[in-house]
Amino acid sequence: MFLLLFFFIFIVTYCSFCFLLVFVFVAGKKEVRVLILGLDNAGKTTILYKLYAPNRVIRTMPTIGFNVETVTYKNLNFSVWDLGGQTNIRPYWRCYYANTDAIIYVVDSADRERLGVSRKELLSMLAEEELKNARLLVFANKQDQKEAMSVVEVSQALGLHAIKDRQWHICKAAAIKGEGLSEGLDWLANAISGTGGATGTDDTTNDLAELSSASSIATEAQPTPTQ
Ligand code: GTP
Ligand code: MG
Repeated sequence: MFLLLFFFIFIVTYCSFCFLLVFVFVAGKKEVRVLILGLDNAGKTTILYKLYAPNRVIRTMPTIGFNVETVTYKNLNFSVWDLGGQTNIRPYWRCYYANTDAIIYVVDSADRERLGVSRKELLSMLAEEELKNARLLVFANKQDQKEAMSVVEVSQALGLHAIKDRQWHICKAAAIKGEGLSEGLDWLANAISGTGGATGTDDTTNDLAELSSASSIATEAQPTPTQ
């Protein structure tokens, strides 16, 4: 009888402990809502699924509507929404703006012709009241393409250094190979948890050596000090 009672108390204590552990684990992860935006063919869906399943080979189709996945990184649960970027779909982006913590803006660095359009879309999106507190991470994607603009050139073309009212960061990426994504996500995780993320930073330092004749670009592209 005594043994049975002891066993019963042990089971109850053990189950309560397990439940507490699961609760602490689940409740301890902060929910972060992230939108991946950018023109069609920029590589948004590729980025989403490389973040979600890094080792998987990704084949995408143009997105009509959206894809959404949860990505867990550094004790944060990123709820990542990838929206289609075709011209006729872009007006619907605003339906997803509410409660957004961060925007990942993706640029096809090899698509020089449409960088102006990309800048226009970025600026009009940033002007939206609902996004005024959202951090901005820009991926200068498709760096594996030989005609790709450098991260410095993309940063300049988008006019990122004029953004003073929010935390932003640009880094180079080759999503198809999964390159550069974790650096970007690191910055985002730090910015969200309040442990880093200057008002405006870029990872252009390494690119400056490549731009031998562009000292004005080099000067402008220096990362700004952490605030
Ligand atoms: P929409 O859904 O139409 O808005 O496009 P998207 O931005 O989601 O682009 P998606 O991820 O579908 O990629 C478009 C094409 O670019 C695909 O053929 C990808 O394989 C390719 N792509 C994506 N990232 C890279 C990259 O880093 N390098 C190269 N070379 N191709 C890439
Ligand atoms: Mg897509």
